[in-house]
Amino acid sequence: MTKYSNKKCRFVILISGRGSNMQELIKTCNSDNWPAEISAVISNNPKAAGLDWANNNYINSTYLDSSKYSNRDDFDRDLSIEIDKYSPDYILLAGFMRILGCSFVRKYYGKLINIHPSLLPAFPGLDTHGRAISSGVRIHGCTVHFVSPELDSGPIIAQGYVNVFSKDTVEILSERVLEIEHKVFPSVAHWLTLNEVILDKDDKVSILNNHNGLFYL
Ligand code: GAR
Repeated sequence: MTKYSNKKCRFVILISGRGSNMQELIKTCNSDNWPAEISAVISNNPKAAGLDWANNNYINSTYLDSSKYSNRDDFDRDLSIEIDKYSPDYILLAGFMRILGCSFVRKYYGKLINIHPSLLPAFPGLDTHGRAISSGVRIHGCTVHFVSPELDSGPIIAQGYVNVFSKDTVEILSERVLEIEHKVFPSVAHWLTLNEVILDKDDKVSILNNHNGLFYL
């Protein structure tokens, strides 16, 4: 897709729960008239609150219940079949809490974009806010990155920084981080629609048009 083609950039969004990042992506896409369409929202959890929001907002949405699968490969295969119906340019992991297998990640390498609630490579995995508080760091935040097979790794596109204060609880810090997540992810998605994020053959990311990959509250 070139920057000047009439073709809209197609996104599929994967979620597992609340879906606040998904909502920000969809709302910003619509209000700012991006040359993009959200082709589908897919959840691995049938009870994800984000699915209700998507349905209420007339977004094409579905689920594949990962708890019904006894092995990862079968789930990944069915997820891939569902995703391929839409031929997306990018697949946005917006609070998708299921680990994707190597073959799946390799198949979509360069198209899979994740948001993680820490400044990677610090705090991959779960309980990022609790671990940030316990470790005494003064800066925390979120990372939007291309997904590679190793958990919570891959070429970084943008990061959002927040302060950590001595009186912070996990709840307070997670709210602060979520606020910056809601700035970073829509910005990156917008750059993607304009073909302004380049991943080269050496896995280096360039952002065109002088966009700044650092965000602050
Ligand atoms: C967000 O904080 C996101 O960064 C995190 O889950 C939350 C989902 O919130 N993702 C991960 O931890 C992925 N490893 P949301 O459903 O309201 O967007």
